[in-house]
Amino acid sequence: MEIANQVCSTACLTTGKDTSGMSWQEWENTYLRLEWLVANPRKFQKILKEWDLDKSAKILDLCCGNGGCFNVFLKEDYAFLCGLDISRHLLANVRVPVPLIQGDVYACPIKTNAIDVVFINKALHHFLDHTCILSEIKRIVKPQGYFCLIEPRRTWFRDLYHVVCLSPLADIFPFFRSLKRAVLEEGDTYFPWLENAEKFMKILRNDFDFTILSNDRDLRDYIVKCRNNK
Ligand SMILES: C[S@@+](CC[C@H](N)C(=O)[O-])C[C@H]1O[C@@H](n2cnc3c(N)ncnc32)[C@H](O)[C@@H]1O
Repeated sequence: MEIANQVCSTACLTTGKDTSGMSWQEWENTYLRLEWLVANPRKFQKILKEWDLDKSAKILDLCCGNGGCFNVFLKEDYAFLCGLDISRHLLANVRVPVPLIQGDVYACPIKTNAIDVVFINKALHHFLDHTCILSEIKRIVKPQGYFCLIEPRRTWFRDLYHVVCLSPLADIFPFFRSLKRAVLEEGDTYFPWLENAEKFMKILRNDFDFTILSNDRDLRDYIVKCRNNK
């Protein structure tokens, strides 16, 4: 809890229990079913090693969901870890002892200059107003701190994936049906993200003065580490 008390600007620590906020339940259930695909521990462990972050860094997993990436951070001995998500329901599914903050990425209940590393995995593509989110990230990351992200990228592989999982045949197989539902549910933000991701990188550099230290692109994702030139 100590780290959360250090970084939180308001009393917003969740108890992990929820009885209300279930309005996104269906969306959340889809995410829970596909979590292994979203968080992908093996791939993330490799990425984390390459990012080579300071083990004593205060790391905030922004939009952490049910904490699919926490185990990898913990396995790699990153102790000063906390997570923020808007969904109490997903936070209630977190099974590791990481301080959790229930809050909105558009107005993070986090102190200014409190975080060494803001990390986002597969969440930026759920939003349309990235300028507002970047303003918040800029505010909470320490000068010379880092912002690391893993987000979908448009590639031939993704195009093929869309063709397969959006086809009527996908309805026959439960796995593809699940993927189809996820793509359709997040389509309003996911497809614009795929088209505008390069523009996002430009805004990150030019308007928010982050230096992109590495931008590894694989068949599915952007894997970016950048530094805050504050
Ligand atoms: C696809 S999930 C990614 C979860 C997680 N990063 C992972 O790797 O498993 C997107 C997450 O964004 C969260 N989210 C959506 N809108 C949010 C908001 N306005 N503020 C904070 N979190 C939000 C959702 O609750 C969900 O957990």
